[in-house]
Amino acid sequence: MKAPLAGRVALVTGASSGIGRATAEAFVRAGAHVALLARRVEPLEAAAAALGEQALPVAADVGDPVSVRRAFEVVSARFGHLDVLVNNAAVGRLDAVAQASDEDLRLQVETNFLGAVHCIRCATPLLESRRGLIVNVSSDSVARPYPGLVVYAATKGALEVLTLGLRRELRDRGIRVGLVRAGPTATEFAREWDPERARGAFARWRAEGDLDPERVVSPELVASAILAWVCEPTSDLVEVG
Ligand SMILES: NC(=O)c1ccc[n+]([C@@H]2O[C@H](COP(=O)([O-])OP(=O)(O)OC[C@H]3O[C@@H](n4cnc5c(N)ncnc54)[C@H](OP(=O)(O)O)[C@@H]3O)[C@@H](O)[C@H]2O)c1
Repeated sequence: MKAPLAGRVALVTGASSGIGRATAEAFVRAGAHVALLARRVEPLEAAAAALGEQALPVAADVGDPVSVRRAFEVVSARFGHLDVLVNNAAVGRLDAVAQASDEDLRLQVETNFLGAVHCIRCATPLLESRRGLIVNVSSDSVARPYPGLVVYAATKGALEVLTLGLRRELRDRGIRVGLVRAGPTATEFAREWDPERARGAFARWRAEGDLDPERVVSPELVASAILAWVCEPTSDLVEVG
């Protein structure tokens, strides 16, 4: 049987770990060539090396429009077009809104919301000629913002509004825009959180019904939902986990 993504080119942001890395792997297994984009060079190159010659590591910061333009120039020079963009890169800083630092506020908005916008801007001309697809990775916290992650959830809310509007703006250019809303997933997402504060937050989320440890899913499960949408982009919203 022909691999479902044979001959297709995808770019996955936030591909040095977690859901992004698992998505790049699922796409490569499905036959695609995949550009893996993230900031940390070492894990990024390790992820790409593990996937072999179908994978191209591209170090870039989605929050920096100049860095994103350079990354897309590399992808365009290598492949000439793009079939799928997955906007997955994001950061979550654990803090109450009232105490959030200027730096953490800016980082989350620039990465989670503007980062997707920067990538979409550069990807559109490459996707257009291929009737391409954009997948935006959101979070169940949009429907239920966890205390301590409210700014993060709001950036995902903005990403969802962006998705709704883009569907109409890009329809005439033949580009479809999907939305995958993940629930709690076992990744490195909390790796920079202060351990004591993180313990307190997890205890509160469990007590208040935000988080059921039994329902934490694997990044591979989310990746398989993303792959399934790319293979059959019919639904407007995919919820996983
Ligand atoms: N884990 C969960 O429970 C959960 C639940 C719902 C939704 N999500 C969403 O799933 C997506 C993936 O998160 P994850 O759970 O897999 O966490 P993760 O393992 O921390 O992955 C996040 C990825 O984003 C990259 N990244 C962060 N800032 C970046 C920037 N400025 N430019 C480029 N890449 C950047 C990171 O790589 P570098 O640090 O190397 O740049 C990393 O590869 C995110 O959109 C997240 O909001 C996660």
